[in-house]
Amino acid sequence: MTRVALIGGTGPEGLGLAVRFARAGDEVFIGSRTKERAAEAAAKVKEKVPDARVKGLPNAEAVEKAEMVFLTVPFAAHAETLESLAETIGEKILVDVVVPVEFGEDGINAVTVAEGSAAQQARALVPKAKVASAFHHLDASDLQRIERPMQGDAIVCADHKGAKKKVMEQAEKIEYIRALDGGGLTNSHYLEEWTALLLNINKIYKAHTGVRIVGV
Ligand SMILES: NC(=O)c1ccc[n+]([C@@H]2O[C@H](COP(=O)([O-])OP(=O)(O)OC[C@H]3O[C@@H](n4cnc5c(N)ncnc54)[C@H](OP(=O)(O)O)[C@@H]3O)[C@@H](O)[C@H]2O)c1
Repeated sequence: MTRVALIGGTGPEGLGLAVRFARAGDEVFIGSRTKERAAEAAAKVKEKVPDARVKGLPNAEAVEKAEMVFLTVPFAAHAETLESLAETIGEKILVDVVVPVEFGEDGINAVTVAEGSAAQQARALVPKAKVASAFHHLDASDLQRIERPMQGDAIVCADHKGAKKKVMEQAEKIEYIRALDGGGLTNSHYLEEWTALLLNINKIYKAHTGVRIVGV
C-alpha cells in the first residue's frame, strides 16, 4: 500500500490515476486549489471504486500525507505550482506527469523548456525531491474507464534508482501496464515530446493511443 497524492488531481489525468491506484488498494489524496473541487473529485473516485481509501484535500495537505506525489497540472501551472509546494514536497518521490504542449491552430506542439524538460525543471525547483518522469502515455479517459484494462508501457525516467524502482512498481499496479526503465531524467524530454505526436495522432484517428516498446 502506498500513500499517493495527486497535485491537480481533479483533472482527467489525476482522476484517472487516482481511480486506478485506489482500486489497487493505495491510500489516495486528491489535491486541488480548493477544498470543494478536491471533495468532488474524491466522491467521483468513490463512485467508481466504492471501497476506495480516498480523500480530497488542498494540494499542500494532500502532499503532506503522501510518500509519493504525482504532479498533474497543465504545463502553464508547472513552475508556479512546484515553487509554492517545494518545501512541503521536500525529499519525497515526485512523479512528473506534465506534458509541455500548446494547442495551436496548426495542431498540438511540444513546448521547449529551458531546463531540457518539465521533469528537469521540477528537479531544479524542488532539488531535494526524488524526481521521476512517467505516465505521460497513459490516456486519462482510458484510465478512468476502470472496467477496461489498460494497454501499453509506462516508461519511467529518473536519476534516483530507488525512487525509479518504486515508481515502476507503482505503474504496474495498473492492470496490464508494463513499466520500463527509460534511463535518467535527461531522457524525459523524449517522453514529453513524443506525447505531442501521440496527441496529434489521437486527433487524426479520433483515438486514445499509447506506447508499447517491442524487443524487451
Ligand atoms: N489528459 C490526458 O490524457 C493526459 C495524459 C498524460 C499526461 N497528461 C498531462 O497531465 C497533466 C494534467 O492533465 P489534465 O488533462 O488532467 O489537465 P487539466 O484538467 O487541464 O488540469 C488538471 C488540474 O490542474 C489544476 N490547475 C489548472 N490550472 C492551474 C493553475 N493555473 N495553477 C494550479 N493548478 C491548476 C486544476 O485543479 P484545481 O482547479 O482543482 O486546482 C485542474 O483540475 C497535464 O500536464 C497533461 O499534459 C494528460
